[in-house]
Order: sequence, then C-alpha cells, then structure tokens
Amino acid sequence: MFKKSKILTNDVTVVYKQDNKKKLNYQKVLWSSESSMIGRFWLLKKLIKKKRFDTWLDVGCGTGDIFSYFSKNKILKYGIEQSRYLYRLAKKENPDVTILNRSLNNFNRKDNKFSLVSCIGVLQNCGCAPALFLNKICKLIEKNGMLFLTSKNINWNQFKINSFEINSNHSWFDIGEVKKILLKNNLKIIKAGGFLPKKKKITKISESHTFYIWAKKNEL
Ligand SMILES: C[S@@+](CC[C@H](N)C(=O)[O-])C[C@H]1O[C@@H](n2cnc3c(N)ncnc32)[C@H](O)[C@@H]1O
Repeated sequence: MFKKSKILTNDVTVVYKQDNKKKLNYQKVLWSSESSMIGRFWLLKKLIKKKRFDTWLDVGCGTGDIFSYFSKNKILKYGIEQSRYLYRLAKKENPDVTILNRSLNNFNRKDNKFSLVSCIGVLQNCGCAPALFLNKICKLIEKNGMLFLTSKNINWNQFKINSFEINSNHSWFDIGEVKKILLKNNLKIIKAGGFLPKKKKITKISESHTFYIWAKKNEL
C-alpha cells in the first residue's frame, strides 16, 4: 500500500511521554513553535469558512489548544488523546469538550459518526499501521461529513535540493498514497496540497514539509 512513503511504527506512548522540561504546550506535542501549531488550526478555520457542522471529533487532540482556538464555534466538540498527561491538560483547559483518554485503535463508536473529523499531525506517529489508522478515521465520518488531515510530506523539494536528511523520528508520506486510501474509503478529495504552517501559506506539494487534505465522505 505504501511504496513511496517511508513508514515507521514507533511506540507512541514513548514519543509523547511526559517531559517536565517542556513548559509550553507546543513543545509538549513536539511542534517546533507556537506559530507552526496555530498555523494548522488556522488552515482548518479557513477551510470550514461558514459551513455548519453538528459534531466534530479531533483525533490526537494533544493539549487541546485546538478547542480553545475554536471556542466561539458552537459545534459539539469531541477529542481523543492517547497520552494520559496530555489528555489531563486538554480536559482542564476545555471542560466543555468531551475528551477521551484513548488511542484511536481502541475507540469504538459504532453508531456514532461525526460531521467533521480532524487529525492534525498525528498520522506520522500514530502507533500502528497508517493504512489501518486512516481506514478507522474514515469510518468515523458521517455521509457528507468532512475530514481535515495534515501530515509529513516525503516529496518536499528540500530533500533533493539541499540533500536534507529525512528525519527518522516519524513517518513521511507520499500524498498520492494517502489519497488512494481515502478514495477507497469513499471519500472525495476537495482540496489538497502543501502547507507552510508558520507562514500560513498554501503551496505546491513540493514546496513544503507538510501536506493537508480536505475531503468529503460520499453519500453512497
Ligand atoms: C504532533 S501531536 C499533535 C497534537 C494536536 N493534534 C495539535 O495539532 O496540536 C500528535 C498527537 O497525537 C496523539 N496520538 C498519536 N497517536 C494516537 C492514537 N493512535 N490515538 C490517539 N491519539 C494519538 C499524540 O499523543 C499527540 O498528542
């Protein structure tokens, strides 16, 4: 399934273990800066525009900063987060949000689907085979519901131009291979491409280390 992507399956509980030296929220979820964390939330806001959703699940919500960012949005918010200490932080800051301390792998909500599902920076270190993870996410989206996904782009031109070493702490994906899995799960790609979170700039796929996908679950 993944031939061009570089897949690693790390122990996610170790990757995101508590480290008291990390004082700021963006450090706790391993983003390089506050602006690179917020930039991804900004893109979701831009894609949502004035669309209305009833229920929203954020998979791997980390410190829950995304819920504070969207605090004015009246959508019913849900989050799941595998790390106990990140879950506690998220819960403390967002008492109005239903957050579960669970891995997506153990999350079963057969009758409960969501009109919006987001998964920001999780796929590259999701603790299981990424294809299984994506299949599971797709099942949680209701018909006509939307998916917002961001992850790491293996086709970033800096790897070729500057001979940058591919960071081997997490997986890197070929966006075409990720899209194929979404299409097989009955999703239609509405928008996709490269994204520079710090600059809040959508780019060609080759021009960023990060890609995003905005996709819709088909009716049939
Ligand atoms: C890079 S952080 C991003 C956090 C948040 N989405 C954000 O953008 O600030 C990835 C998060 O996903 C969580 N995570 C990774 N695999 C997961 C899984 N299988 N189920 C639930 N959470 C997971 C990690 O614990 C971590 O908090």
